Amino acid sequence: MTSNRSEIIAEVNAALEQYLPPETTYPPEIHRAVRYSVFAGGKRLRPLLTLAAAEIFSVPRQHALPAACAIEMIHTYSLIHDDLPAMDNDDYRRGRPANHKVFGEALAILAGDALLTLAFEIVATQAAAYFPAETVVALQREISRASGMAGMIGGQVVDILSEGKPAEAEILDYIHRHKTGALFRCCLRCGALMGQATPAELAALTAFADKVGLAFQIVDDILDITGTASELGKQTGSDVNRQKMTYPALYGLQQAQEKTDSLLEEALLLLEPFGTAAAGLAALARQLVRRRR
Ligand code: IPE
Ligand code: IPE
Ligand code: MG
Ligand code: MG
Ligand code: MG
Repeated sequence: MTSNRSEIIAEVNAALEQYLPPETTYPPEIHRAVRYSVFAGGKRLRPLLTLAAAEIFSVPRQHALPAACAIEMIHTYSLIHDDLPAMDNDDYRRGRPANHKVFGEALAILAGDALLTLAFEIVATQAAAYFPAETVVALQREISRASGMAGMIGGQVVDILSEGKPAEAEILDYIHRHKTGALFRCCLRCGALMGQATPAELAALTAFADKVGLAFQIVDDILDITGTASELGKQTGSDVNRQKMTYPALYGLQQAQEKTDSLLEEALLLLEPFGTAAAGLAALARQLVRRRR
């Protein structure tokens, strides 16, 4: 419970190492492609959020790791596909050439598919070792909904279809709350579900995640303009090049920045009823909204 962020990330990485087949497994090309992106040095914010939510309810970290890692697998898959030429056409990710630049588009598509399916296998096998069947089903429901057409996929679809169009507040809100917000809400909700949270606690953590997820994507949009490729591990200027619908495009940098500050404040207020149990989660929210990478 007192571990710091780098120790928790080491535990997440060890669990991912255990869940992913070794590179020598046949056919090695897919395992190499999957591991290349999973172990490229992502910030692991989604597992950290899941574990911080579970910690509020004193769920042992070991028990919460399968769901936390499943969400990271889905996130990594979304990045591999997001970078494909047919989508954002970006060449760098997590400080390395994008998956398709190294393994080719076919393997990159398959590596994404492999991570998406493995995520559900991990919940069904590993989380099932610690939680009753109804909790495992609830986790699967959360993760599948958040990743699917009512969640991340919906957001990615509207993001792609909105390229080159004048920004509209309602559409932009839909994009951000779905392409990124849905998985953030999923992290908090899975943590709460593993902790047998009350409906009121679940609602408060969902609302918290909604605000933090939106703030996180606005910061991503801002850093695409103000950040550097070496800090971010991915190309900057990509959104302007592709005429993406973003917060800075609609509201300007300053207003976008102010929006992240107010979302963070509102989010932190929602944690007050949890007292010191949510201190880790509150610290994480501050870090990820005020990040430089
Ligand atoms: C990048 O997410 C994609 C968005 C949803 C903005 P992260 O910034 O969390 O990427 P990694 O996991 O650290 O690479
Ligand atoms: C990505 O949004 C969201 C998902 C991958 C679901 P972006 O396209 O803005 O993410 P980056 O900037 O490429 O990391
Ligand atoms: Mg994108
Ligand atoms: Mg992108
Ligand atoms: Mg971006």
